[in-house]
Amino acid sequence: MSTLEILTFLVWLVASVTFIFALKFLASPKTARTGNLLGAAGMALIVLWTFFTHDATSPEADPGMFGNWWIIIVGGAIGAVIGWFSAKRVAMTAMPQMVAIFNGAGGGAAALVAVVEFLRDQELHPGELLPLAFIIATLLGAIIGSVSLTGSIVAWGKLQGVIASRPVRYPGSQIVTGLLFLVLIGLAVYVAVIEPSTPLFLLFVVLALILGVQLTMPIGGADMPVVISLLNAYTGIAVAATGFVLSNYALLIAGTLVGASGTILTQLMTRAMNRSLVNVLFAGFGTGGEAAAAGEGEEQLREISAEDAAVLMAYGKRVVIVPGYGMAVAQAQGPVRELMDLLISKGVDVQFAIHPVAGRMPGHMNVLLAEANVPYDRLKEMDEINDDFADTDVALVIGANDVVNPLAREEGSPISGMPILNVDQAQNVIVLKRGRGTGFAGIPNPLFSNEKTAMLFGDAKPSVENLVAGVKQA
Ligand code: TAP
Repeated sequence: MSTLEILTFLVWLVASVTFIFALKFLASPKTARTGNLLGAAGMALIVLWTFFTHDATSPEADPGMFGNWWIIIVGGAIGAVIGWFSAKRVAMTAMPQMVAIFNGAGGGAAALVAVVEFLRDQELHPGELLPLAFIIATLLGAIIGSVSLTGSIVAWGKLQGVIASRPVRYPGSQIVTGLLFLVLIGLAVYVAVIEPSTPLFLLFVVLALILGVQLTMPIGGADMPVVISLLNAYTGIAVAATGFVLSNYALLIAGTLVGASGTILTQLMTRAMNRSLVNVLFAGFGTGGEAAAAGEGEEQLREISAEDAAVLMAYGKRVVIVPGYGMAVAQAQGPVRELMDLLISKGVDVQFAIHPVAGRMPGHMNVLLAEANVPYDRLKEMDEINDDFADTDVALVIGANDVVNPLAREEGSPISGMPILNVDQAQNVIVLKRGRGTGFAGIPNPLFSNEKTAMLFGDAKPSVENLVAGVKQA
């Protein structure tokens, strides 16, 4: 082994260690920025090392490759500029779309590497079958990467409102999906063991791209975060396959880490919603618009004015704020922070109860509250705070619905078994929402007609601003 090869292995090892620590740090909001930087540094190290040591970039090693040197620089520069500006300018509520499109780019890159490697091999050894392990990895990289690319584009379109966010199906769509799978398997077997035909391999890639669209269109827009996390896992697996094809251990490790963490995140989300992955992928659940139309029923709800609600909180000992999707829609996090500061200055103990799937993406509430500079130590996870609601004077629910719905404790409701925040155990509950709209699950919420509950109707942002004004005067 040459010195260069040994050094290359060392660089891969160091970078892989940074990825593992990056994941560890990303697990807590306090250390997430460090984790992000560490992972990016590891990736930069590998990219630069490859760039300066690989033969393809050295004109002496292969003058024919000299042209590629510029392609890499120009391509890298364009990618870096797009990445930098979109990360700087993205609104917090548009984060899921951005993650989707970046993830798609990763899957697409993995598929492209598979295509290039196949074509290159056919150029060097025309008509010769590739070693089985190599062709399996190439086919896996091509199919999973392609599905991830087009699936992520559809997910982006649904979240951005460019494509209908409702589940889109046409008669016989499941049969078409089944047929696509069968044809893909047939093509893969043919290319792997009968004849390494380039046109059939390219047909395989095109059909895989169609499969990505076919699999994602029937899923409702509100389920997209789970789908994005799953597609992220796919991208990881495609990248790992690419690492195998290129004999690049750093890619293999990075891809495996992404594949594993994407799979775990998908599992955590489906478990926190008490739904199976099959239900998310095939049930066409939670389409947003339909859910809102279902309404909250006509039972009498007790209303409260912002002034009275403010007095209740200002003279309480302990207030727990429960944010939900409505807080994100209203962009009420700034005034919420102001309300917290005011209450604390009046000697009230204020904490936030964070449900794992409050909002529409993992960590949605944490990100919004962090943006408004709410200190991390005030954010309590569900398990940490659930027993404390009984000792809470006021639970202030801001645009949350399913995550505080006591129906989850009963058999037979669509959310049966979903863990919820025990808001109904607080002494008083104040709910901020616009009207009688249901949550994501589209079912009524008995919390709102509970005798302890008072409703403050209106958009969450002006409602919280009115509470702030009320607390100032209390
Ligand atoms: P939801 O159950 O969706 O309820 C949100 C509530 O906010 C609605 O009842 C709505 O009522 C109210 N609202 C909407 N806009 C508002 C505004 N501008 N001002 C005030 N209120 C507003 O939210 P949640 O409790 O956060 O639960 C999240 C749901 O999403 C769960 O069912 C979860 O399973 C699902 N989900 C979550 C994720 C992740 S990872 N977070 C992923 C997929 C699905 P009005 O219309 O009456 O105002």
